[in-house]
Amino acid sequence: MVEMSDEVENRIRLLREKVSHHDERYYRYAEPEISDRQYDRLKRELEDLEREHPELAGPDSPVLEVGDDRLEGFSSYTHRLPMQSLDNTYRFGELRDFANRLERLLGENELEFVVEPKIDGMAVSTTYEGGRFVRAVTRGNGTQGDDITANFALIRNYPKILAAPHPEILEVRGEIFMTLAEFERINGWRLKEGLPLFANPRNLAAGTVKMLDRKEAGSRRLTWVSHGLGYCDPGYYGTLTKFFQDLKRWNFPQVENHWVRRGIAPCISAIGELDELRRGYAYSTDGAVLKLNRIGWQIRAGSTAKAPRWAIAYKFEAEQVVTRLLDISIQVGRTGALSPVAILEPVKLGGTTVSRATLHNRDEIARKDVRVGDFVKVEKAGEIIPAIVEVVTDKRASELAPYAFPTKCPACQTAVIPIEGEAALRCPNTTGCPPQIRRRIGFFASRQCMDIEGLGEAVVDQLVGRELVASPVDLYGLEKKDLLELDKFADKSADNLLKALEESKDRELWRLIHGLGIQRVGMAASKLLANTFLDLEKLAGATVDHLIEIEGIGPIVAQSIVTFFGDPTHAKMVHELIAAGLSASHALPKPSGSIQAVDGKTFVLTGVLPNLKRKEARERIEKAGGKVVGSVSKKTAYLVAGEKAGSKLRAAEKLGIEILGERELLELINEKTPES
Ligand code: IVH
Repeated sequence: MVEMSDEVENRIRLLREKVSHHDERYYRYAEPEISDRQYDRLKRELEDLEREHPELAGPDSPVLEVGDDRLEGFSSYTHRLPMQSLDNTYRFGELRDFANRLERLLGENELEFVVEPKIDGMAVSTTYEGGRFVRAVTRGNGTQGDDITANFALIRNYPKILAAPHPEILEVRGEIFMTLAEFERINGWRLKEGLPLFANPRNLAAGTVKMLDRKEAGSRRLTWVSHGLGYCDPGYYGTLTKFFQDLKRWNFPQVENHWVRRGIAPCISAIGELDELRRGYAYSTDGAVLKLNRIGWQIRAGSTAKAPRWAIAYKFEAEQVVTRLLDISIQVGRTGALSPVAILEPVKLGGTTVSRATLHNRDEIARKDVRVGDFVKVEKAGEIIPAIVEVVTDKRASELAPYAFPTKCPACQTAVIPIEGEAALRCPNTTGCPPQIRRRIGFFASRQCMDIEGLGEAVVDQLVGRELVASPVDLYGLEKKDLLELDKFADKSADNLLKALEESKDRELWRLIHGLGIQRVGMAASKLLANTFLDLEKLAGATVDHLIEIEGIGPIVAQSIVTFFGDPTHAKMVHELIAAGLSASHALPKPSGSIQAVDGKTFVLTGVLPNLKRKEARERIEKAGGKVVGSVSKKTAYLVAGEKAGSKLRAAEKLGIEILGERELLELINEKTPES
């Protein structure tokens, strides 16, 4: 028995950690790592275990909390009436239990409920005082939220003034969301620009609301819909239906359909009707909400620590479909990392046609024993990038061979090697592998390196594809006639690119060093090296002993530098770059007051840093002249990533944004680590 309880205790501890982690990803950062369904399963398991083992339930359990969406940069506001979360279920039987409980509690039969769509958006509470809109606040931790009044102005469809009669004080609750059409418009544009795509409309809406960059936020259309009554003059409304009538009179946007039904069976049929109708809605709906219609009964039913007893959400199952796995395609990243993508027989799922799904890495394929030719169950739970849930083994043809992850790079046939400490594999052929070359040239030309205007991804792809360019040196040998052969290139654009290339020859030395793409040498280290050696050839000739004398350069980075220049191709490239006329001996101007590499630059913080609290990191960056914003965009200069960094890190990597650890951040802003 002792062992049993140990096991349960460990499981509870693990589940609490997981649920807290995913709460933070979802509510605070609007960047969930798992589907809602997976999250609900974890949370339900934890709730069940805590109920069965009350002796193990603790006051710190995330089960008792409402997820917290508050971020720095917004002022806090205390809700007049807390914004609670909702209990949810995937089973009709539990809806019957819910209704029975209420009937017993209230001593009434056939209670009247309102059934309405559950909108997959971001909860917000708007306050009207004396009939005027005064503020909009997020749910926050349920008690205190972020004041987003300024960004709420981006939403045009809400009344600023309520026609009389109206209560003196009124809180109208609702969801901010983005229509599927707007979501697709933004992602379509990002696809063209080669930017990372947003996972789903809910995250994009929440991320936009929390953007401190008003200009960028303003370019995305947000909408909101009201659904609930927060604080109101006591006794003003007897029923929700009465409140809804007023919302209509005041021109609040409301949900398309709602049903008022007595007894639970008619509510369940209303949910069925909703399931049919919701496919035509402009936003994504992940379920139905049932609420007691009479406010007096709501008050009598009361609430638990986190949710009202008078309301419940019924959630629709994530849509799943079975299709055939036609192939596994392996993509090669800038560092040579290989990522597998499932190529599926196209199938309709959640309104779109799906033909690809992520497979993460080699271990994931092995764990699920995914084989090419298998039938696989694909799930899409609000996300645009579907996931493979499992293999339908009954349907497997017996002769399918287990998937053998390539041992050679699919692009250049070089034997792949494991990346230390990671599940991924890497192609080591850094100088001859086409996708790596394309990405490296792109990096060399990017804003954080040589800053060559007009040398974007599409142009680089063509230059590499036509074998006009294989190394940065080749860029400087390009002639006008070469450029005129490229798509969309005319006289003027060719001249402009040649001019930009010419100008780039005079960039500071650190930009050139950074642009070489030496492993583990980021922007901060490049600046240190430029300032120490003042000359690229001197750096190329440096030994490990010499390099580790530089404060801020450790043995691993030193070794990486020596290995890089020890490669004859790289040594040759250095000579050729100098021969092409690049000034390889600029010093970094000494910073005065604010720090040049930081001044006016935009930083994004993500994950947990080893020593610095977020707030401290932010203050230090701001002191050095930088500014900190909430989400990664093309304009981001640096991403400061700590442990557990997730999708922001991936977004930054895709955009080729300089990524700093805590130490590199401190080096950049010339400070010592907090411990030293
Ligand atoms: S009523 C006291 N109605 O879902 C909670 N909530 O998962 C009463 N939500 O916090 C909420 N659509 O932000 C209600 N039609 C709807 C809703 C809705 C979405 C949100 C709400 C709530 C969350 C719980």
